[in-house]
Amino acid sequence: MTIRPIRNGEGPEVVDLLRRSFITVADRFSLTPENCPKNVAFYTEQRFEEDVDRGMRYYLLEEEGQLRGCVALEPARPGVVYLGRLAVLPNHRSQGFGQALIRHIFEEARQMGIGRVEIGIIEADTDLKNWYRQFGFESTGTKTFDHLPFVVGFMAAEL
Ligand SMILES: CC(C)(COP(=O)(O)OP(=O)(O)OC[C@H]1O[C@@H](n2cnc3c(N)ncnc32)[C@H](O)[C@@H]1OP(=O)(O)O)[C@@H](O)C(=O)NCCC(=O)NCCS
Repeated sequence: MTIRPIRNGEGPEVVDLLRRSFITVADRFSLTPENCPKNVAFYTEQRFEEDVDRGMRYYLLEEEGQLRGCVALEPARPGVVYLGRLAVLPNHRSQGFGQALIRHIFEEARQMGIGRVEIGIIEADTDLKNWYRQFGFESTGTKTFDHLPFVVGFMAAEL
């Protein structure tokens, strides 16, 4: 298993991976292109390009030369980054890939001199929230947005 930065031209593959991974989330929480067009289950190449232009940096996890998962890091404020777009393909979950991607981002962030990593999740996804706690993430609050049909839970980990 290797984790490496995305290469030029890999956008379409990553968009496909994210859509196929997040569809399980969309199904569980009844998210559709109509009620939640911004969900990663409905990600597009145009949005991928916009994210990269904004400074989002993707890392890809491969096993046996095949793309299995990804994660992204985005500068937030001085000393703080957002971790997002964490995804492992449904058939390859529960093998530690998600954990490896988080630890990789922590390592990258430390090397950048970053002291805090923040995430936003679906607050009602308690299994996911508990899973993040093992890496040191703690809940910092919740927020309701007009354009989202779920409450967002924020978490942060100090490195
Ligand atoms: C979250 C995710 C990346 C974890 O990937 P993974 O490779 O399975 O992670 P690991 O193998 O390191 O850890 C597995 C553990 O994840 C936990 N877990 C994480 N999210 C979970 C969720 N939403 N529901 C149930 N269990 C979850 C389970 O405890 C699981 O333990 P198990 O193997 O005993 O069942 C993967 O489930 C995924 O892609 N989910 C869809 C996208 C998503 O929710 N991303 C996070 C958005 S903030």
